[in-house]
Amino acid sequence: MSDHNKVKITNMDYSKDRPAAENPVKIQDLTLRDGHQSLFATRGRTEDMIPVAEKMDEVGFWAVETWGGATFDTMHRFLNEDPWERLRTLKRYMTKTPFSMLLRAQNLVGYRNYADDLARAFVERTAENGLDIFRTFDALNDYRNFETVVRVIKECGKHFQGCICYTMTEPRMGGEVYNIDYYVNKAKDLEAMGADSICLKDMAGLISPYDAYEIIKALKAAVKPPIHLHSHFTSGMSPMSHLKAIEAGVDIIDTCMSPYAYRTSHAAVEPLVMTLLGTNRDTGFDIKQLAEINEILEKKVMPKYKHLLDDSKVSIIDINVLLHQTPGGMLSNLVNQLREMDALHKIDEVYKELPRVRKELGQIPLVTPTSQIVGIQTVNNVLFDDDEERYKMITGQVKDLCYGLYGKTAIPIDPEVQKKALKGYERGEEPIFCRPAEVLEPELEQAKSDTKGLAQDLDDVVLYAIFPVTGKRFLKWKYGKEDPPPEVRPRTLEQIKEEEELVKLAKLGRLVKKIEKKGPPKTDSLRTFNVFVDDEYFEVGVEEPGGSPIISYVQQMPAGVPVSAPAPVSPAAAPPPPKPAPPEPTAPAAPAPAPPKPAAPSAPAPADVDGTPLKAPMPGMIIRYSKQVGDAVSKGDTVVILEAMKMENALQAPADGTIKAINYSSGDSVAKDDVLCVIG
Ligand code: CO
Repeated sequence: MSDHNKVKITNMDYSKDRPAAENPVKIQDLTLRDGHQSLFATRGRTEDMIPVAEKMDEVGFWAVETWGGATFDTMHRFLNEDPWERLRTLKRYMTKTPFSMLLRAQNLVGYRNYADDLARAFVERTAENGLDIFRTFDALNDYRNFETVVRVIKECGKHFQGCICYTMTEPRMGGEVYNIDYYVNKAKDLEAMGADSICLKDMAGLISPYDAYEIIKALKAAVKPPIHLHSHFTSGMSPMSHLKAIEAGVDIIDTCMSPYAYRTSHAAVEPLVMTLLGTNRDTGFDIKQLAEINEILEKKVMPKYKHLLDDSKVSIIDINVLLHQTPGGMLSNLVNQLREMDALHKIDEVYKELPRVRKELGQIPLVTPTSQIVGIQTVNNVLFDDDEERYKMITGQVKDLCYGLYGKTAIPIDPEVQKKALKGYERGEEPIFCRPAEVLEPELEQAKSDTKGLAQDLDDVVLYAIFPVTGKRFLKWKYGKEDPPPEVRPRTLEQIKEEEELVKLAKLGRLVKKIEKKGPPKTDSLRTFNVFVDDEYFEVGVEEPGGSPIISYVQQMPAGVPVSAPAPVSPAAAPPPPKPAPPEPTAPAAPAPAPPKPAAPSAPAPADVDGTPLKAPMPGMIIRYSKQVGDAVSKGDTVVILEAMKMENALQAPADGTIKAINYSSGDSVAKDDVLCVIG
């Protein structure tokens, strides 16, 4: 940008009346979707968007991202909100600015490939309810997964934005797979599919400023549609990458209002507006107008959400992303998984094994869900493999990937790994090469008949079809057939203040009155705090319904308990659950499966059964047993499917024999080394 500062700005005139730039950078605001998904576990409520909606409509954004990604899931699951209704409501307040959403191609807003008939209905209903721009991505950059949804987006006359997921295999862009040719070819594919714009989607904040410059230059030269850069802040590079991309001619940049910016979210809009002021790429935005919006967000909205911010460290950047070129959310999941297994000391082995596993699995981009698939398999390899055998425990998702159910990988999957993964695989031992949805049966009619008498319209049916369990529960709340639990109810600013005050008092040991005569029942999310005030010691139970701390109980302990003594454990107090990892940028933020049921107390390992025990190699939840008591098994047969870290693991018989005892059933949670069954 040799001719910057071309336009003279007099008297620091920030208003919109200043001369227009010749090629203004267009801005899409992500506050109302990716912003709260990245920082606040996607818990943003519609009622907290309304206070800024009209003002944001006046800014002049190219688009506002208001929907999609994890919002659809979180709203009906945790907020008792109808996702379709948010679209219609916000549309009434924002009449000028186009709405955009994040669409996971054939995965829609869920976590698996859905059948074509459901994909069609979803896109049609979304367009009908007011969505304008469909930002579409596929975790493998396999655009066959775009075919169905793009056809419908176009039929509805809406904007199809095609994404290229940005990933890398070395510290800078290049290498054999993800080099400049790869990205240029992907952009050409999207142009050929009729993309109205093309988004380079850097969900992990990996793109470095000079690579951004090079790639945007190349894309601008190769294709006609406008180029859009989506780069998360996570690693700290994105504001620099934005600027270099702007110099290279990028058309559209994604930002957030500052209270929703930085950390794993996106750079803030305000510094960018000031950076470009008076240049030939001036956004034309009124900085004072942005400040007014911020004021509302800070005072009226943030108090309800700031407790959700992951404040476990001071630094707002994730240095590990720079070191390992992998998404931050993926790395924190690996650490959590290892910690659960008491194997945190193996983290360096995991970092070493990770590139190898990724390559063997087809050098796929690392974005949800592929980042999880590669990550968990890597941990399994490090924990369970030995010198003689690799891939001893292959997750169900790796089997699906090897079968071709996610699509085509960037390079072929290692044939030996693929063969091993598909041995005895339920869909077949030979991989498929067609568009994955072609092997899926239609599912909309079944969803209609499942929801007869409950669903009132197609929107309800589609919600149920994508999320059968939580969707059905939501529809019962919506139509008054069941009372929604207190934790899904919204809370007012006054309630928040009261609760904060109580927490403060409790921490000072001064809370002696009971809040309610009869409190809500304690749940699994109860956390206990030891509070010491001089020589007095209190045990405080704090629970977070809907994510916000309220005092559950305060118990004064006998004075004089030495600070170093282990606190007496209240029998009702559950151990503090691990703090949830911050969601990966594009991850299903807190898809949070229902908390697993506590391990069945009635099922201790029977001492009187002789034989070889099959022990749980990791903590998890029993999905199902594939054998019954009395069944004959050979060593290596799958006996139990155990879910850990949202991945399914097939556990094999450690010996030949007959199943003598089965100690758990579906849905039970088990600890590491629990005896799942005995073979004699
Ligand atoms: Co994102």
